Amino acid sequence: MGLIGLGNMGTAIAERLLEARFPLVVHNRTLEKTAPIAARGATVAATAPELAARVDVVLTSLANDDALEAVAADVIPACRPGTVLADMSTVSPAASARVASLAAAASVDYLRAPVSGNPTVVRAGNLSFIVSGPRATLERADPVLRAIGATVHHVGDGEEARIVKLAINLVIAGLAQLMSEALVLSESAGVSRAALLEVMGTSAAGAPFVKYKTEPLLRDDFSATFTTALMEKDIDLVLEAAGENGVELPLAHELKQLLRSAIEAGYADDDFMALFLHLRSASPDRDQEAVR
Ligand SMILES: NC(=O)c1ccc[n+]([C@@H]2O[C@H](COP(=O)([O-])OP(=O)(O)OC[C@H]3O[C@@H](n4cnc5c(N)ncnc54)[C@H](OP(=O)(O)O)[C@@H]3O)[C@@H](O)[C@H]2O)c1
Repeated sequence: MGLIGLGNMGTAIAERLLEARFPLVVHNRTLEKTAPIAARGATVAATAPELAARVDVVLTSLANDDALEAVAADVIPACRPGTVLADMSTVSPAASARVASLAAAASVDYLRAPVSGNPTVVRAGNLSFIVSGPRATLERADPVLRAIGATVHHVGDGEEARIVKLAINLVIAGLAQLMSEALVLSESAGVSRAALLEVMGTSAAGAPFVKYKTEPLLRDDFSATFTTALMEKDIDLVLEAAGENGVELPLAHELKQLLRSAIEAGYADDDFMALFLHLRSASPDRDQEAVR
């Protein structure tokens, strides 16, 4: 079993695979980042092709289209025919389709396997996979995916999983902005953050996302589980897919502007819940003490 990409998600996924006692070979572009996972028992491959030559299943967890396409161009020629390549990144249907063509030409069995969750969700064993590709390939990868996360949804044979993932992140970005607005409104009127979040969590608006974010918000912790920069990337992909399919998504355009503005204000590497900090910093009557 091989895993390429030890970012926030890849590292948590590697930990799950090691806990499940899969022999694991890992590679990361910045090789030093493999050290903690190597210390837990994984073998490090110095290059992606070296990893591909050693395993039957290659998992990838990479930042964006360019990263996936660069890694796929390196890895696929080094795979034996019949190797499964399962990509867990959030990327565009177009880039994924190009990877699918490369894989097909090399008789590599390709699965689109983007995920819904975050590193904390991964460590709790609750990651959901949204998979598209041949069912027979999914059956081969299924034990590995289920060792990482409890839920595997098969949504089609082509690029469907990419669209489903983007649709979910559109809702998540919207929830983050709406929570931010609810918090700014409540705090400006003297309602404590704790009171609002407690009531929201048990109300009809109490989505799992609201519950995940409650503790970090109460601690004023905006360290990234998913960065503002990556969320902007996903909303760009949503807008691109909307354009390709000829549909208008007005709120997605608004979210793009809000994320851009937060990034320009310095929140690119913070958690995207920093949308709240950014909105609060724009409120005229705020106590500036807590504002960056
Ligand atoms: N974090 C979440 O909550 C979450 C949830 C669901 C889905 N996702 C998706 O999962 C993917 C990974 O997310 P993450 O949060 O783990 O991101 P991250 O922490 O930023 O990690 C990104 C990974 O991509 C690698 N990478 C970037 N550009 C590359 C290139 N040109 N060539 C090779 N490797 C490259 C990075 O390597 P270096 O270490 O060398 O930079 C790193 O291993 C993203 O597509 C994201 O949208 C994330």
